[in-house]
Amino acid sequence: MQRNHNSFKEVVGILGLGYVGLTLSTVMSDIGIDVIGIDKDEKLIFDLKKCKPHFHEKGLKQMLVSLSQKESPPSYQVGIKNSLADIYIITVGTPIQRPSLEPNLDYVSSATKEVAKVLKKNDMVILRSTVPVGTTRNIVLPILEEVNNLKAGKDFDLAFCPERTVEGKALKELRELPQIIGGLNSRSAERAQALFQKITSTTIILDSIESSEMLKIMDNTYRDITFAYANQIALVCKANNLNMVQIVNAANQGYNRNNIPLPSPGVGGACLSKDPYILAYVCKKTGVDSSLITQGRAINEYMPIHTSNLVIKKLRELKIKTNNSKIMILGFAFKGIPETSDMRDSPSIDLVKELQNKSVEILGHDPLVKDEEIENLGVKLTSISDGFAIADAIIIMINHPIYSDFDINNLTKGRKTPLVLMDSWNLYQDGELSSNDKIIHLHI
Ligand SMILES: NC(=O)c1ccc[n+]([C@@H]2O[C@H](COP(=O)([O-])OP(=O)(O)OC[C@H]3O[C@@H](n4cnc5c(N)ncnc54)[C@H](O)[C@@H]3O)[C@@H](O)[C@H]2O)c1
Repeated sequence: MQRNHNSFKEVVGILGLGYVGLTLSTVMSDIGIDVIGIDKDEKLIFDLKKCKPHFHEKGLKQMLVSLSQKESPPSYQVGIKNSLADIYIITVGTPIQRPSLEPNLDYVSSATKEVAKVLKKNDMVILRSTVPVGTTRNIVLPILEEVNNLKAGKDFDLAFCPERTVEGKALKELRELPQIIGGLNSRSAERAQALFQKITSTTIILDSIESSEMLKIMDNTYRDITFAYANQIALVCKANNLNMVQIVNAANQGYNRNNIPLPSPGVGGACLSKDPYILAYVCKKTGVDSSLITQGRAINEYMPIHTSNLVIKKLRELKIKTNNSKIMILGFAFKGIPETSDMRDSPSIDLVKELQNKSVEILGHDPLVKDEEIENLGVKLTSISDGFAIADAIIIMINHPIYSDFDINNLTKGRKTPLVLMDSWNLYQDGELSSNDKIIHLHI
């Protein structure tokens, strides 16, 4: 892209075109900001130049196509070769390392080093990856100051502005959610605010960079712990032969102090399975007990095993040996609503491992995940109708709308043997299937 010197428009370079960087660059370009998307993955850049995103996100492909026809389309390139932008936004991954459960900040450091090489006076750098408190000031800032002898807050601006969109609705939410801003100083915060005000109507400036880093990990940990609480209750209800769904629905009804979630066969995705560990790491570093956070994770990580245990127990009661059985998993993405093709840290991956340990033959289906990603797990892709005809058990792992709309009586009409249906998301009412003597309807 040519820099547009005549209009004094700032050019935004976005480093890391994953779920966060690609959706952000697309929305920014759509509202008229000059955007350069940068990634180190050559295939990803090659495909983007042909308007082919590497993941499913509602509306994204169509938007890439229509932007490519505009006078000033977003451009994409591998790495940064020279000074090409006025504002750099870093959106690279921050995975958790196992077994230490500490965040890996190497991608943030190396992306920052690339920016540092081309940083010039009056530029701004915004970190958007989810990071431990202190990362922007203690890791990013020194790297940026190192190469060209520029001083943060004086020669260039620095801010942390977290991404809070949900996969599947990111393009919409980027325009609607309040944008949180933490600046190194007020000039940095106001400049970041001016940029994000072009996208969304509400921007909230916090008192420091660290506060906005904390807000992001606090948000996701809150959700993870809430789901862990529901899952804990599911475990104790099951042990006491109580119907948790009925209890939760009654507890929430007309009682707006409550919003207790229903249970799930696990809590996955690249954010909720990771960010609590980042907060726990911050606790550990600062001498604060983090057992609530890590215990929540432990419960949520146990749920795929619990799901497997319930199904295997039922098969044994039916005298079906696990090493002779076929179990079909419906849903490999980490969630069903909003729909996504993202399989990162999906509870289904843990379920597959658990069932493979028991030598079960695993059949599978997902509406959006690429076939090869499912097959690479050692799962045999199978159609819904074949699964209902030949499997000994079916486990619904996500609440994707297509899984709540089966004509189960029709799908099972040719069966001679019982079918265990683990309805982990309570998509079917108890009474709905009671007349079908083939179906053994289970819940978490
Ligand atoms: N996925 C989400 O919906 C979401 C939401 C909120 C926050 N976050 C956070 O945002 C960050 C990014 O998440 P993501 O899901 O987009 O990650 P991702 O793994 O999908 O994408 C990261 C991209 O960065 C690229 N990259 C790595 N190092 C690079 C470098 N030096 N230069 C250029 N490109 C580089 C990778 O090739 C990859 O394409 C993480 O910290 C994550 O926790 C993610």
